[in-house]
Amino acid sequence: MNMIDPFGRTISYLRVSVTDRCDFRCTYCMAEDMAFLPKKDLLSLEELDRLCSVFIEKGVRRLRLTGGEPLVRKNIMHLVRQLSRHLDSGALEELTLTTNGSQLSRFAAELADCGVKRINVSLDTLDADKFHQITRWGHLDKVMQGIDAAQAAGLKVKLNAVALKDFNDAELPDMMRWAHGRGMDLTVIETMPMGEIDADRTDQYLPLSLLRASLERQFTLTDIPFKTGGPARYVHVAETGGKLGFITPMTHNFCESCNRVRLTCTGTLYMCLGQEDAADLRAPLRASEGNELVADAIDEAIGRKPKGHDFIIDRRTSRPSVSRHMSVTGG
Ligand code: GTP
Ligand code: 5AD
Ligand code: SF4
Repeated sequence: MNMIDPFGRTISYLRVSVTDRCDFRCTYCMAEDMAFLPKKDLLSLEELDRLCSVFIEKGVRRLRLTGGEPLVRKNIMHLVRQLSRHLDSGALEELTLTTNGSQLSRFAAELADCGVKRINVSLDTLDADKFHQITRWGHLDKVMQGIDAAQAAGLKVKLNAVALKDFNDAELPDMMRWAHGRGMDLTVIETMPMGEIDADRTDQYLPLSLLRASLERQFTLTDIPFKTGGPARYVHVAETGGKLGFITPMTHNFCESCNRVRLTCTGTLYMCLGQEDAADLRAPLRASEGNELVADAIDEAIGRKPKGHDFIIDRRTSRPSVSRHMSVTGG
């Protein structure tokens, strides 16, 4: 049974934000003083598992846990372990997560044991002072230990760096060399205007066409058809032998091939990262022990998945295009 949206796109990928909380406060993602979703509205891990299982029955083949920071959710490994039964049965092709790496040294081995094969780690700089500046609360050495632990556990690690003008753009070539030298791919991301932060996004925004042009003065980049099922467009870098991905929601969006929807930790389903429209799955989940009501609510929601996002970063519009923060829907 497949989920097909009004534009003919098959929805086979679910991102689940298991908590909107985080132990960092990255300046492009959050304000320092954040209001989080009320704890009383949280779904239990059992309820999240039940919802995920309905999505898998309806054709989801890849599932990514996100946050906030997924590894700060209490007993998160219980959920990962439960979900791994769908890998064992063959219903799910991939179970993975996107993490800031702060807790990875504790969890890497267990993640691998649950059948997780690869993870994405968000890392915007290799400079310890700048790392502390951008994450406000984070420590680079903890993340480095986490990456080491992940690689030692046999997990394939991809790094995600949000490209930030005059902050990390000059450093990205070195970061790429470092990542590729350690057998990790790197993806660079254009910042998206989600949620009020304490900074002006127009000051941070770097169109990746500029970064690519500057990299091409130093490296030989060849477009390759490599795909992970995500929005990145990849190049092969001859000098390092590694892959570099570009995620360009602002300059070259990828909505036409969108395959995903997003579930929050309170059971709200967002059909698009860059739109406010959402469907409540918590009420139908709790209304009955069977899954029919939830399945119907999912069908109804997929039936109104929009064509794409309306993100704009422009000095004339100081408000974010979408008022919720990235951490609610997990990127
Ligand atoms: P893989 O390709 O499977 O490795 O993962 P991914 O790149 O889809 O996921 P990841 O969690 O690493 O996300 C990287 C960045 O891509 C984040 O900043 C996300 O917000 C962004 N992203 C992922 N999916 C979408 C999408 O559908 N629309 C937009 N605009 N951005 C997305
Ligand atoms: N724009 C683009 N990427 C963002 N992330 C967080 N906030 C934003 C934003 N406003 C990234 C994180 C992480 C991923 C899940 O989303 O750095 O890599
Ligand atoms: Fe936390 Fe990720 Fe947001 Fe940073 S980008 S504050 S690590 S959720």
